[in-house]
Amino acid sequence: MSENRILILDFGGQYNQLIARRVRECGVYSEVHGYEQMDLEDIKAFDPKGIIFTGGPQSAYGEGAPSIDDGVFDLGVPILGICYGAQLMAYRLGGRIDSAPVSEYGRTEVVIDDKNGLLAAADDVNICWMSHTDYISKPPEGFVITAHTEDCPVAGMENREKGFYAVQFHPEVNHTQHGFDFLQRFVLDVCGCTQDWKMDSYAREQIEQLRDKVGDGRVLLALSGGVDSSVAAALLSRAIGNQLTCVFVDHGLLRKNEAAQVASIFGEGGQFNLNFVLVDAKQRYYSKLAGITEPEAKRKVIGEEFIRVFEETTREIGQHEYLAQGTIYPDVIESGLGKSAVIKSHHNVGGLPDNVDFKEILEPLRMLFKDEVRQLGRELGLPEELVSRQPFPGPGLGVRIIGEITEEKVRIVQDADAIYREEIAKAGLVGSISQYFAALTNMRTVGVMGDFRTYDYAIVLRAVETSDFMTAQASEIPWSVLQRVMTRIVNEVDHVNRVFYDLTSKPPGTVEME
Ligand code: XMP
Repeated sequence: MSENRILILDFGGQYNQLIARRVRECGVYSEVHGYEQMDLEDIKAFDPKGIIFTGGPQSAYGEGAPSIDDGVFDLGVPILGICYGAQLMAYRLGGRIDSAPVSEYGRTEVVIDDKNGLLAAADDVNICWMSHTDYISKPPEGFVITAHTEDCPVAGMENREKGFYAVQFHPEVNHTQHGFDFLQRFVLDVCGCTQDWKMDSYAREQIEQLRDKVGDGRVLLALSGGVDSSVAAALLSRAIGNQLTCVFVDHGLLRKNEAAQVASIFGEGGQFNLNFVLVDAKQRYYSKLAGITEPEAKRKVIGEEFIRVFEETTREIGQHEYLAQGTIYPDVIESGLGKSAVIKSHHNVGGLPDNVDFKEILEPLRMLFKDEVRQLGRELGLPEELVSRQPFPGPGLGVRIIGEITEEKVRIVQDADAIYREEIAKAGLVGSISQYFAALTNMRTVGVMGDFRTYDYAIVLRAVETSDFMTAQASEIPWSVLQRVMTRIVNEVDHVNRVFYDLTSKPPGTVEME
């Protein structure tokens, strides 16, 4: 691991992962750790070139408020405090924090008073993103005020001699003008980090480490065809070749041609050297799912069936010492910082069987954010189509066919979805929509085609914009594009005579139909 690393001490703010991503976008490795999980010795052992205190919801002077060993200020390591982190720094070093008479939320005009430090790139009045109810009313001794707003006397303060910097606003969010410049200034100029966090060197290091660890052992990976497991497969294949076995279960609920595409990349004749086991479980799933209409019951059958298929397959292919998973950093952060890895059911369907014995779980992507996983995938030669793939739910088309699943309905939704994706791509909209897909309603309506009456299914088109998938709104796809999609679907897909566009936001809707 590089000696250029930034430690992000998490005080419970909502943008903490974003800070880590931004630092990495500067080309510098960073890790997020909960403040309560890092005592002074841990911080020293981590040996950071700089430390960032994040935001958080509490009052620095409140009882039981998240705090820090004051020894951190004597390490000689530059520190940047953001929002709560700024207040904490001020409070611990002898400044004053008060409840702000006027809270500031969102877009705020910040007047820059001093550009000799962190804020060198700022405009004289810089738009920044605020979210605070307390403020620093008096900076500690030795600090200069670098910025203020109408309602906040200390929007920025610095003690450059000691390497302490603080901003009340959030430089990590895009809405803050020059926010990235401020972070870059801290990481590169103040901390003196070299930009050595690059995916090609990460790939090389990981390949070596995996080789060392695995020796001549065998590794099993459940490949879903999604970005994470595919990149994990590519990385492991480069490291240990055909000591890797990938099990890919075609549950018959994949997108059109998806199984064939995954097989062409990872299977025989593809670009990777590994054992690729394709399990065709389509009919098995369709018969298990026959007659089941309740969404949770469907999900349960799909998940449990995956475990059965996986168990049977591993029994047939014999003992593997290691199980590899495509766990990524947000899962690690969310499942409890610093605690041991929670095993993610990364095949995305149910959860792996408990009774399969492995010597160790390998998670070669566990320190990477999603965009870094994609970058690594490109580095390893995976096709762009796979690397930039949309999120696809574990239960697949099972949650995009409302009500009972049949083979015919799968075919209908696959065909409609393929047309929709093709037209979205042609219209150049791929990058501007977070997720889009076609789903099949369980409603049939009367229509007319040629001179004949039809009584056929209705397709619903979904497209949403979201940053975190917790909330979302329907995309404003141009009418002409929607009309072209509609025309093609009713003309080209048998048994569809109507197309709807779903306008529902989340909440109250969800992204998927079930
Ligand atoms: P919802 O429908 O919950 O979807 O608003 C939010 C995001 O999660 C995806 N999703 C799933 N992903 N297994 C997954 O791996 C699932 O069971 C699942 N259900 C929904 C969905 O595609 C969207 O991106």
